[in-house]
Amino acid sequence: MRRTLIAGNWKMNGSLQSITELMDGIKAGLNEVDNADMAVCPPAVYLMKVKGLIGEANIGLGSQNICDQASGAYTGELGPSMLKEAGCKYAIIGHSERRSLYGESDELVAKRHAMAVESGITPILCIGETLEERESGVTEAVVARQLDAVIDTQGIEAIGKCVIAYEPVWAIGTGKTATPEQAQAVHAFIRAKLSALSTHIADNVQILYGGSMNAANAKDLLSQPDIDGGLIGGASLKAEDFLAIGKSA
Ligand code: PGA
Repeated sequence: MRRTLIAGNWKMNGSLQSITELMDGIKAGLNEVDNADMAVCPPAVYLMKVKGLIGEANIGLGSQNICDQASGAYTGELGPSMLKEAGCKYAIIGHSERRSLYGESDELVAKRHAMAVESGITPILCIGETLEERESGVTEAVVARQLDAVIDTQGIEAIGKCVIAYEPVWAIGTGKTATPEQAQAVHAFIRAKLSALSTHIADNVQILYGGSMNAANAKDLLSQPDIDGGLIGGASLKAEDFLAIGKSA
């Protein structure tokens, strides 16, 4: 039985004051979330602060990236042991904003994935097609290529140690959600592809949906058989909305 995971990707949002209020709000309503694990991925500069705010509450902490190297001369990167010290359980990798705005390739994302797994941090591996790719009918080929970058270099076992987030790029931050049927179709494709290599891993890996998931559409998306949670951007910045998504699981 796959557990539902609702992870908030705060992106580059927040201030010391707003994240304190946000975490207070999330903690206050957490006891009403029965069927989902909750996690938050703040900007790196706030990780340790948020760890403190989480305290004993059952909320996972994640970073928004992780370096592909252990330590050294990598200006601006986040070392895996540092993220562990900060209390991170997860690291988002390959988010479409990293891929499209900062030029991260499939190969680099795969290396970041390897470093996270090696360090005992669970990568939240983001994959997904652009609008142009969807319209030209290559959605499956794109997500397969993005998965293969990891599988070909690290084996299917590396997928067994991650969480996958299918995020159609055209749905991120646009208010245009994939319909539950559109999302389910790609999630089922991903699981079937993995199943050809390992039914055990395919059956157990959590596949989250991301892209304008909110309190109003979460229930329909989360009730699809192959959707195991959400990676939430905008709606994770309001405690009430984030909790409502958790409660709809
Ligand atoms: P959104 O972002 O929920 O604001 O669309 C999701 C994401 O980018 O992970």
